Formats: sequence, structure tokens, C-alpha cells
Amino acid sequence: MKVLVTGGNGYIGSHTCVELLNSGYEVVILDNFSNSKKETLEKIKKITGKDFKFYEGNMIDRSILEKIFTENEIDAVIDFAAYKAVGESVAKPVEYYTNNVSTILVLLSVMKEYNVKKLVFSSSATVYGDPEIIPITEECKTGGTTNPYGTSKLFVEQILKDLYKSDNTFDIAILRYFNPIGAHESGLIGEEPNGVPANLLPYVSKVASGKLECLSIFGNDYNTKDGTGVRDYIHVVDLAKGHIKALEKLEKENKGLFIYNLGTGTGYSVLDIVNAFEKANGVKVNYKIAPRRPGDIATCYSDPTKAKEELGFTCEKTLEDMCRDAWNYEKNNN
Ligand code: UFG
Repeated sequence: MKVLVTGGNGYIGSHTCVELLNSGYEVVILDNFSNSKKETLEKIKKITGKDFKFYEGNMIDRSILEKIFTENEIDAVIDFAAYKAVGESVAKPVEYYTNNVSTILVLLSVMKEYNVKKLVFSSSATVYGDPEIIPITEECKTGGTTNPYGTSKLFVEQILKDLYKSDNTFDIAILRYFNPIGAHESGLIGEEPNGVPANLLPYVSKVASGKLECLSIFGNDYNTKDGTGVRDYIHVVDLAKGHIKALEKLEKENKGLFIYNLGTGTGYSVLDIVNAFEKANGVKVNYKIAPRRPGDIATCYSDPTKAKEELGFTCEKTLEDMCRDAWNYEKNNN
């Protein structure tokens, strides 16, 4: 089976390409390096000992997609090509809606033209807004997103539902990720945020390595066990494997639009993460308590039952693995 992976050189994309190649899939990557490094391509080859085709370009450009679909017999697409920084999306809504919504319309149109009808889409738990119940099941209400990034994911989910309604020969898996962290155990690929990291784990890594002075913990007065925010952190390699499970479902069962949460089902607080990182790596993470970050919610973790029952997907890695691999990557690459 030949899979086009758009944004395949990015953080989650590169880990997924490794798992695809290790599972015997043929891979074609489209990426424009907007948030990734060229060397990652070689590293994917080094980890897997396998080769793949690469095209440099932006998915908004119909001609590059047509070239890919003409030159390769693509069976399925996994779409990671999007911007993902919540704060930046508030400042740059036009760029976010263009890159996250307009581009997939071009992809879907070309997929229709070439009769390629299997798609795995990278969505986010952010579509649940401030969740009405915890743990969050796929049936929970979506909406109430507080930034253009989250709203762009919500819009694309709706587009995919409408597409499926119009043509049920499409097979679509929408994967709602919780908080991906960690890196490949080789230490070769991992998360490379541009500038000062906005997310917790990359920030913690940079404080531990001395590149940043001190972590600000955004609020310790939430209604959680220690007052700090609780999230469902998932190892990026487990998350990558979830995509293989989703593809297998689309191959085997053929027919349908499916939505799955990809998380561990366990919530950890910010202080849990700091403590686990220090313990796993024998390092110190300086922190101070700071005001709440606007737009944050107290608690967000998944009910992973549906993915377990329907995909046979369960997370294998522990929080210790996540902290160790994140630190290993930081030490090797920065
Ligand atoms: N946090 C800090 N200090 C920091 C960074 C984060 O205390 O410097 C806290 C946050 O307040 C929150 C937790 O750490 O309680 C996790 O924050 P992240 O920024 O790492 O992640 P979020 O849960 O805010 O958001 C992430 C992704 C989104 C995605 C969402 C889905 O960034 O893209 O998970 O749940 F939509």
C-alpha cells in the first residue's frame, strides 16, 4: 500500500513515517519545511533503513498534488500539513485558515479527481473546547473553540463529514490527538519548535538544559489535585502507531467515517510532569507559579475506549518513557 503523507517531515508526521516504513508501507512525503528541518528526511531513512519519495511543496498548489498522484499510485493519504501554534493562530487567523482549511480543499479535490478515497486526518482534542464531561468521549459536544487553530480543525472535521455525506465511497478517519510529547528513542527525530516553545514539554527540556531560565507554571488555583492544569500526554511514537491502526481499519473494513480520540486516558498535572521529568532524567527544572494563561482549561483527558475496542489501539509508553525520550532528543540535538 502506498501512502501520501502530507506534512510528513514535521513532528508527528516524521514519527508516523517511521512507523509506516517499519510496517511495510510505501511512503511518499510532501512537505514545505515550514516548521521542520531538511535533515529529518535523512534521519527517517537512517532509523528505518528504508527509502521513500519526497516532494517539496505546499498543498495549496494543485499542480504539485497532481504531479504526485500522476507519478505514484497513491492508495491513501495521511494529512498532517497544518500550522499548530495556538497563540500564533490568534495573531494570524488568515494564514491559519488558509494553511489549515484551504489546503485540504485542494487535497480533497485532487483525491476525488484521482479516485483516491482513503484519508486519515490529523485533528485535535481542542475541538471539544471546554469539555462538558471528563474523561472525554468521541460523543462529547464539539465547538466553543477559543482560537483560529482549534476552529480550523473543527471546520475541517465538518468539511470531511459533509464530503462523506455526499460520497460514502470515501473512507475517513479523524484522529483527535491529546497532548503529544517525547521523541523517537533513537534521539534522531523529535519536536523542533520555532523560537521560544509555547508547549510544556519543549519548555521543560530547555529549562533543564539551561537554555531557558525558569518554567512559568500557568496557574496553581485550578480545581485539580494540586491546582495546576491536567492534560493527557501521549508519547509521539504511540500516537504514530495509532495512525497505522486507523489505516488498517480503513483498509479492512472499508466504508465509513470514523472519529477516534488518541490519548492514554490518564491525566497528569503540570507539577506531575515537572516531577516525572526530574526523576526520569536526574535533572533540575526550575519553576515559578505564574498567572493562568488565557484560554487554558483546568482538565482535559480522553476516554480511549473507542480506539481500543475498534482499532485495537493502546498506548505502550509510560510517562517516564516520554520524559526520558524528550530529554534524550534535547541533549542530542540542541
Ligand atoms: N503550561 C505551563 N507552562 C508553560 C506551558 C504550558 O504551565 O510554559 C501548562 C498549560 O497551562 C497546560 C499544560 O501545561 O496546563 C499543557 O500546555 P501545552 O501548551 O503544552 O498544551 P495545551 O494543552 O494547552 O494544548 C495542546 C496543543 C494544542 C492542542 C491541545 C489539545 O498545544 O494544539 O493540546 O488538548 F489542541
